[in-house]
Amino acid sequence: MSNILLAVSGGIAAYKSVELCRRLQDQGHEVRVVMTASAMEFVTPLTFQAISGHPVHTELFDLAAEAAMGHIELARWADTVLIAPATANTLAKLVAGFSDDLLTTVVTATAAPVVVAPAMNQQMYQASTTQENLATLKQRGVRVIGPAAGAQACGEVGMGRMVEPELIVDQLFYPHSELLAGQHWVITAGPTREQIDPVRFLSNNSSGKMGYAIAKAAHRLGAKVTLVSGPVSLLPEAGVTCVKVKSALQMQQAVMEHIPAADVFVACAAVADYRPVDFVTQKIKKNDEHLQIQLVKNPDILQGVAALPSPPFCVGFAAETERLEHYAKDKLQRKNLDLICANNVSCNTIGFDSDENAVTVFSRDGESVTLPQSCKSKIADQLVRLINKTMS
Ligand code: PMT
Repeated sequence: MSNILLAVSGGIAAYKSVELCRRLQDQGHEVRVVMTASAMEFVTPLTFQAISGHPVHTELFDLAAEAAMGHIELARWADTVLIAPATANTLAKLVAGFSDDLLTTVVTATAAPVVVAPAMNQQMYQASTTQENLATLKQRGVRVIGPAAGAQACGEVGMGRMVEPELIVDQLFYPHSELLAGQHWVITAGPTREQIDPVRFLSNNSSGKMGYAIAKAAHRLGAKVTLVSGPVSLLPEAGVTCVKVKSALQMQQAVMEHIPAADVFVACAAVADYRPVDFVTQKIKKNDEHLQIQLVKNPDILQGVAALPSPPFCVGFAAETERLEHYAKDKLQRKNLDLICANNVSCNTIGFDSDENAVTVFSRDGESVTLPQSCKSKIADQLVRLINKTMS
């Protein structure tokens, strides 16, 4: 794990950097915090000190601080300097090479990669000076994460919000590439809900984490991504087109709409195999000791896509609790897939609703690759690269 110098400049988004600090630490990184004088108008150094567990660096000319870890030591210590939020003023100072406070001095003195997460009023972001400054920083090798669009603290709406801490951490460690440029991936994720009456439904334990991670990985590697998602509480990666559905029939319709333009289809959703024959329009009363609900089989979305006259490259998942390889290979053949990921869902540290997974990927020619237990982001990145390699 690495040493991250989190440099906080003065914007309202500084409060989000407290969460950012915690998330970086959660990933096992050592974090030290530098704050500008304006940042301290929004959040106190004590807050960052309590979260990071280390004194916060605020002064360029402070004898005590310099004796402990001075600006040159800080610049040398950092493996990455992350400026979040990076205000328009800070960006301008970086472009001009100013060293008039601790933040700018450390940036000038460091050999570590510098990453900025801009945050400012949307008009300030659009200003030609800011745009030129960002372009100059990019040319110099500074990575820019965001900003995001949305409602702003000043009441306006537009580009300029700091990217959410979770996504900054993600983008910091899984950078973008153009490996899949020109490809369109359609991915299903999450459960489906098969409504019984207005308040009850049949569903399963899928959280969507695996499918969303695959969508993110494919997008990061340059693909255009359409994510067809059942009801989950996750946010898709910025740039991924997300189509929200509830039932298996809705998922099938959304998939079929996007499949004609797709190069790859990854079916990661846990589609309910059955749905009630009838939807009861009023809430069912508990009058009877036994209640029978008649079910009918849902269409198999993946099988339907693989049976199209010119199907995309089709990848399925086989969620199994026993005889993993046998059932996975059977689904590969029966559904006429290119690849299948055998997913052991009998173990509660992987699979459904956990942060980690482990899969063995079987191909038509009998080859198999095991992706050992790891976080779903890593499994997704490995899987997307494997799919791309197998296709080409
Ligand atoms: O969402 P998470 O909590 O992160 O969990 C991830 C996961 C365990 C759900 C995922 O990794 C996984 O294994 N997904 C497939 C679950 C499943 O429904 O498997 P299955 O063996 O029943 O279906 C086989 C394949 O056919 C799957 O690719 C499935 O998406 C597809 N299918 C199934 C039924 C159906 N009606 N239509 C389909 O497209």
